[in-house]
Amino acid sequence: MTVLNLPVLLGTNRKDRKSLFAAKWLVTQMELRSEIKTRLFDVADFDLPQRDYGQGLKDMFPEWRDAIMNADGLVIVSPEYNHGYPGSLKAVLDLLLKEYIHKAVAFVGVSAGPWGGTRVVEAMVPMARELGLAVTFSDLNFPFVQRTFDETGKLLDPAFEQRAKDFIDELVWMAQVLKWGRENVPSKYHQT
Ligand SMILES: Cc1cc2nc3c(=O)[nH]c(=O)nc-3n(C[C@H](O)[C@H](O)[C@H](O)COP(=O)(O)O)c2cc1C
Repeated sequence: MTVLNLPVLLGTNRKDRKSLFAAKWLVTQMELRSEIKTRLFDVADFDLPQRDYGQGLKDMFPEWRDAIMNADGLVIVSPEYNHGYPGSLKAVLDLLLKEYIHKAVAFVGVSAGPWGGTRVVEAMVPMARELGLAVTFSDLNFPFVQRTFDETGKLLDPAFEQRAKDFIDELVWMAQVLKWGRENVPSKYHQT
């Protein structure tokens, strides 16, 4: 069995963020799968400088750099802020570039409203493409997140279990195929 490295990035540093519940719960679902190795990264833990930006800073964050270098894919959990993604998420993603190429990315959208972050997911697609990531087409959406989890982060709606399974299955397929491709099909972007 191929074990896939699939870290999860939580994309907001807002104090009372509910997206944390979605990210933590999803990590528990991924940890149930023997073919996945995962770990939660949180943009709030990145002490980013006010007056610098981008790939020149990546060695300040070696755990993130190495996790993405060794990753087969990535899950991004993002709340929808004015139909876009938080600047803190973009700043963390922009620390790297070639490390993402030909790897899978799956999106989790979180919102207080009824659309479950569908608009932020759409907004992330062109940005992820420029990073060289290959986007899955099974998103996981958490609408009305304030009533989907209780105040301790316990999931209140068991329907999400099947949704998460479908979401993870698609990510695993994409990540596995791309891993095979990186290892077997020559590209100027990586060594086979
Ligand atoms: C700056 C800001 C903008 C927001 N814009 C939207 C929005 O466009 N659509 C939406 O459904 N919810 C919006 N929300 C509400 C979030 O969906 C809500 O806070 C939800 O709990 C997910 O974000 P959180 O992880 O920060 O809690 C916004 C929240 C903030 C702080």
